[in-house]
Amino acid sequence: MEKDLSRRDFLKNAGLIGLGAGTLLSSVPWMSALAQENTSKTVGEKVRIGIIGPGSRGRFLMNFIKKNSKAEIVALCDIYQPSIDEALKIAPKAKVYDDYRKLLEDKNIDAVFITTPLYLHYPMAMDALDAGKDLYLEKSMAYNVAQCFDLYQKYKSTGRIFFVGQQRLFDPRYLKAMEMIHEGRFGEIQAVRTFWFRNGSWRNKVSDPSLERLRNWRLYKEYSRGLLTELGGHLLQVGTWAMQKLPEQVMGAGGITFWKDGREVWDNVSCIFSMDDGRRITYESVISNKFYGLEEQIMGNLGTVEPEKGMYYYESGTKDGSPAKPAPGFMQMMTDVQNRIFEKLPFAGTSWEPEVAKDVKGNYIMGEDYKITTDGTQEAINAFIESVITQKQPERIAEECYYASAMVLLGYDAVEQGKILTFPHEYRLNYLNHKHQAKQTL
Ligand SMILES: NC(=O)c1ccc[n+]([C@@H]2O[C@H](COP(=O)([O-])OP(=O)(O)OC[C@H]3O[C@@H](n4cnc5c(N)ncnc54)[C@H](O)[C@@H]3O)[C@@H](O)[C@H]2O)c1
Repeated sequence: MEKDLSRRDFLKNAGLIGLGAGTLLSSVPWMSALAQENTSKTVGEKVRIGIIGPGSRGRFLMNFIKKNSKAEIVALCDIYQPSIDEALKIAPKAKVYDDYRKLLEDKNIDAVFITTPLYLHYPMAMDALDAGKDLYLEKSMAYNVAQCFDLYQKYKSTGRIFFVGQQRLFDPRYLKAMEMIHEGRFGEIQAVRTFWFRNGSWRNKVSDPSLERLRNWRLYKEYSRGLLTELGGHLLQVGTWAMQKLPEQVMGAGGITFWKDGREVWDNVSCIFSMDDGRRITYESVISNKFYGLEEQIMGNLGTVEPEKGMYYYESGTKDGSPAKPAPGFMQMMTDVQNRIFEKLPFAGTSWEPEVAKDVKGNYIMGEDYKITTDGTQEAINAFIESVITQKQPERIAEECYYASAMVLLGYDAVEQGKILTFPHEYRLNYLNHKHQAKQTL
């Protein structure tokens, strides 16, 4: 009962109740799995779940799975004993495997969560779908675009339930923000500027050097595509969701500029994803300065949305989005000082004459009293469990997840090759503005 109430609260917060299901669910159809008329029908059911790779993320997800009374963690598989030991504290009765293929043969398992390092996603996910398991795969989907496409085809041909860990798709702030964006409240979205800045090495301490690559897989190209696949995919997915359009091309640059500790993946990377009409989504990460944090700045001609902060701003600072007045330079400067953009005040700068003031305060996407209690992960897992029980794959979720991964992987290739790359037609799905075209064979 309590769980039903909290789910109801979530739907209410996300604006799903009271809107008329049709309006909202048509633009975010994956949320239908959580609609009360569906969840009430699955009460009393139990999904038996196996976890492959219960490391840091896997155990985080296990705690959410445990909160859902319609699921039970029955099996674990890892090759690193400390991960198993920690996971058993969460699911003490789970059967333990040291080979994921054996776990997949277990007929008492309905669905698996794969939370292993990136390079293992493709082989493990393909085997899981072939073994008839429903699959929640952590992001990114695979190690390169071709693998993502192959895996998507496998999902289609096996007809299993397939989610990838893009939890923003279920985060109330993002759902509400997208509803407002798609209503046109901020005009036409012209650009989405995304960034994720941290200040940290991204390195696990390793006592035994033989464990270096297992524990620090993120830092080596053989296992990881670095910041693009670890962070960038979340942000790019928000950009394409806001624009309801997929990019055609990507270019970028990256380097190891600070953490010169033997790692192989960039600690400083930027990409520009461009649409056929010239609009763009940019992505940037640096992990030696965290001042600007994490955000997706969704910019329309009438306003801006920052879903991570939970804020939106109209261009003029007025509610109706009427034309902005030029701001005196001093006002702009004070605004920037309030936003801590400057450390020193540039009083003498005569050439510094900004055109438009920024509305510092903005408006709250979810209302002023909203407390962030979820980033969408619990709801993503609940939706997956509901889908496994009903055996109904929610519309568009696999496609959103596919493009979040495939696009950043193409970005990786563009940076690596130092080229502008066009999204290959043979790896396009028939989704939004993209059309699949089989590769021409000679
Ligand atoms: N959605 C998100 O916001 C989010 C957040 C963090 C991590 N992730 C993703 O989760 C995945 C795991 O990341 P993590 O931080 O938990 O890494 P981790 O290194 O902590 O965990 C990976 C686990 O997989 C195990 N493993 C390695 N090889 C294995 C094999 N052959 N068989 C079975 N187990 C094996 C490791 O021993 C470890 O326990 C990554 O793909 C990462 O991108 C997603």
